[in-house]
Amino acid sequence: MSAEDVVGLSGEVVVASDPASACAEWLCQRARSHRTRPDRFAIALAGGTTPRTLYVLLATPPWRERFDWGAWEVFFGDERAVPPDHPQSNYRLVAETLLAGVAIPSQQVHRMPADWPDLEAAADAYADLLASRLPEGPNRAPRLDVVLLGLGEDGHTASLFPGTPALEVRDRFVVPGEAPVEPRRRLTVTYPTLDAAAAIAFLVTGANKGPALRATAAGTTPAARVRPIDGELRWFLDEAAAEAMAAGS
Ligand code: 6PG
Repeated sequence: MSAEDVVGLSGEVVVASDPASACAEWLCQRARSHRTRPDRFAIALAGGTTPRTLYVLLATPPWRERFDWGAWEVFFGDERAVPPDHPQSNYRLVAETLLAGVAIPSQQVHRMPADWPDLEAAADAYADLLASRLPEGPNRAPRLDVVLLGLGEDGHTASLFPGTPALEVRDRFVVPGEAPVEPRRRLTVTYPTLDAAAAIAFLVTGANKGPALRATAAGTTPAARVRPIDGELRWFLDEAAAEAMAAGS
């Protein structure tokens, strides 16, 4: 199975036995030579289970020594409406895996305040934070250097779930999202924020993601609508996901 066998996904496709390492290598290059601001590397991280391996890898030698952690500025693409120490918190995942092992200044880590009772106010506060910390992208939304994304079995990405109002929002950078499973209440960046990024990477592993990848290649999922305006789009797949995608086509 190679990238040539994966047809229809927009952007560069990498199929690897160890996609977390392939993604780490790519992140290393982006962090070294593609920063919008010379002194900062602004990245929005994904939640869910898939990126855990990547986060642990980045915080472990030899990868840990390859990054200038003092330049990292960490944001989130989505968050569940739970406290930061909750087992389902995306912040907790990142704190326990990546942040525990590397020296990113705490004032450069920006948790989404999805535990506020008023999610609309939380969304606006995080949008203001993005706008105040980042330069403007080609569509005037805040431009992240990298956005790391996952893919759900239903084709969602970040907390942009099929059939939900968040998919249609063009005039806000962050909005409340609704998931069909618990925790249902979320915060999520919108397409304008994703599309303004300098680079986007999807990390997708496991045969269970085959149908969602196929639907994304056919253009019918929320993930398929992620289209950087002036940026790179990459897919890091393991062989199981790529094979399952190809098997059903
Ligand atoms: C989240 C996400 C979400 C995730 C996908 C894939 O908070 O749930 O950021 O978009 O990336 O649901 O999740 P898995 O990696 O657990 O399959």
